[in-house]
Amino acid sequence: MQVRLDKLRNIFAFQTKQLKIRRAKNKDKQQILPFCTHTFSWGDYIDRVWDKWIAEKNLLTLEEKEKAVGICNVGISPNQIWIEGIRINPKYRRKGYASKLIIAAEKIAKRKKLHYSRMIIANNNKRSLSMAKKLGYRIEDKWWMYNLSPKRQKTSAKLATSAQNLQSLIKSDTYCESWNWLILDKKALSKLIKAGRVIVHSKNSKPQAMGIWNKTSRLDDDVMQLGYLSGTKTGIKEIVQFMQNKGFEEKSDRIQLLVQDAIKLSITGLDRRMLFCLVKKEIRFN
Ligand SMILES: CC(C)(COP(=O)(O)OP(=O)(O)OC[C@H]1O[C@@H](n2cnc3c(N)ncnc32)[C@H](O)[C@@H]1OP(=O)(O)O)[C@@H](O)C(=O)NCCC(=O)NCCS
Repeated sequence: MQVRLDKLRNIFAFQTKQLKIRRAKNKDKQQILPFCTHTFSWGDYIDRVWDKWIAEKNLLTLEEKEKAVGICNVGISPNQIWIEGIRINPKYRRKGYASKLIIAAEKIAKRKKLHYSRMIIANNNKRSLSMAKKLGYRIEDKWWMYNLSPKRQKTSAKLATSAQNLQSLIKSDTYCESWNWLILDKKALSKLIKAGRVIVHSKNSKPQAMGIWNKTSRLDDDVMQLGYLSGTKTGIKEIVQFMQNKGFEEKSDRIQLLVQDAIKLSITGLDRRMLFCLVKKEIRFN
């Protein structure tokens, strides 16, 4: 489902001659990318998603005196918007610009009658967490990112063929799909099963653990991703071994696991890298 931002003119009600929020154009790249290179200690990813976001037409930009000084992408999925890639030129920060972009994104959700807005923020990104809190977001859950090497492994985990008995293994409202946390309900689960994306480990025909995998992490074609994991300790180990094996077969460079903080993993070879906060806001319609 795509939203054409140019059809949503009234969401940018605050527009003035000085300040304007509009759909980003490819030519904004020259003004935007230079301040999106060393954003974090590890760099940034905006250059890798720019073309895709421009093609999807959901990238917002804020301009001050006709200069593009900030962006944010608005992913549209069933019943929610996913806000990502918020970047403000360092020379224009603390002027409320990121907040204005987020409010414009929420107006799109309202207009599309989508009930939730979510974003993921690194646990150490205190300024963004403070901004999210100020805008009415609350921390819904915390997720760890782990890295793992592909390896030939024996596993009794298999791709699920039915959702039967899997409901008790769903301990989250969302799963991670290439760095977008999407709603994990019955409908989403059955779609994922049909797509061969749900891994299950069973004992005496009873599911003990499940995982949801993506062939790539979107940011890196050679990184395979596990975007959900839950179950017993033994079952989880089998799912992880399934991923290692799959990564080996697909010649992936690395496997990235996104796992809820509540799930304690003690598996040899797992490299725990970074903690993220998933934040959520309910959209009000009155
Ligand atoms: C985080 C970022 C997007 C904020 O943009 P901004 O336009 O300066 O944010 P706003 O002016 O709308 O700030 C809103 C609130 O966020 C918080 N905040 C923003 N910058 C802050 C800082 N440097 N220190 C502490 N709090 C900060 C404050 O609560 C602020 O309200 P206040 O100014 O009334 O105190 C910007 O610093 C940025 O681009 N950072 C690098 C990329 C990044 O971290 N993106 C977010 C990833 S989820």
